[in-house]
Amino acid sequence: MRVLALETSCDETSAAVVRREGGVTTLEGMTILSQDVHRIFGGVVPELASRAHLATVGPVVDDALRAAGCTMAEIEGIAVTNGPGLMGALLVGVTWAKTVAWRTGLPLLGVHHLEGHLFAPTLEDPTAEPPFVALLVSGGHTMLLDVPQWGEYRLLGETRDDAAGEAFDKVGALLGLDYPAGAAIEKLAATGDPKRFSFPRPLLKGVTGADHYAFSFSGLKTAVLRAVQKSDDLVRDTPHLARAFQDAAIEVMVAKTLQATRDCDRQLIVLGGGVACNRTLATAMRHAAEGVARVAVASPRLNTDNAAMIGAAGAWRLANGERHGFDLEARDSIAFPGLHSPAEASS
Ligand code: KG4
Ligand code: ZN
Repeated sequence: MRVLALETSCDETSAAVVRREGGVTTLEGMTILSQDVHRIFGGVVPELASRAHLATVGPVVDDALRAAGCTMAEIEGIAVTNGPGLMGALLVGVTWAKTVAWRTGLPLLGVHHLEGHLFAPTLEDPTAEPPFVALLVSGGHTMLLDVPQWGEYRLLGETRDDAAGEAFDKVGALLGLDYPAGAAIEKLAATGDPKRFSFPRPLLKGVTGADHYAFSFSGLKTAVLRAVQKSDDLVRDTPHLARAFQDAAIEVMVAKTLQATRDCDRQLIVLGGGVACNRTLATAMRHAAEGVARVAVASPRLNTDNAAMIGAAGAWRLANGERHGFDLEARDSIAFPGLHSPAEASS
């Protein structure tokens, strides 16, 4: 089945054509238009995002169809991110998808943005299939999941405050870097001295119960702020601060993911979301997981927000016979289908 997918939940307008045959989904063509306008504001401005989606969604879809070398007549289903995300931004994609589904009579499916991130690695590596443990780290979310099968997501832990990507972006702002700052921090950190500064590893040692797999990045961010305030030469210290921050964040993410992998007895770790573009994180995870598990990470274009991952998740659900009606709604916060916490399951 060939699926046309749309993603407009934040500041990327993206459309893709994917094809699912024999349980394997391949990407046939994709367009991602990143909205640069937000850069000058230091964060995404929701109203500007909606307007930009509205202006570009049609051409972006045409471009993705062209890249895939196919026409609307060859499309068999429509998948669209319907949450979570910015309400006005989501509305553009959902309204567009509903209109096309109505006009063509094609089946329509709303996809949860985070389920999309989980499917991203399958587009390049068809063996990145459950069972696995997943670390989902984006600008808005930080989640550790056990995935026994597609559609069943056991939430092991999430962040108590800032998301991992949000921490990279906020630390970037402290260091005078443009938004989003994750990639710039990674680049600076590569030249930093790991011993110049030392920051806390939040919720890593001596935690029990509900905090065992939980994350917290806000104290780490405050520790960077204090160091910035104390610095007498920020230009000199910036790479070292970036290095110490990244080392702390990565150490926590790797340790918790590895512990979960052992506890759940899984042999595969999937890294997803924009922060999974961080090669230092992927390398550290691979190193720590040696002899325990393989690590699957999609390439950067599929890790940051894109429609191909929405198409992959949507194609799986559409192939299972799932459909949404024209009452499909865009929602800024929406339940992750199939998500439950182990505590809930055992109670
Ligand atoms: O998944 P994504 O594209 O959007 C959301 O759904 O939030 O993730 C964006 C986040 C931003 O916070 C950005 O700074 C971060 O991913 N990011 C990185 C890197 N590349 C992007 N964080 C750390 N290292 C990177 N190389
Ligand atoms: Zn995302």
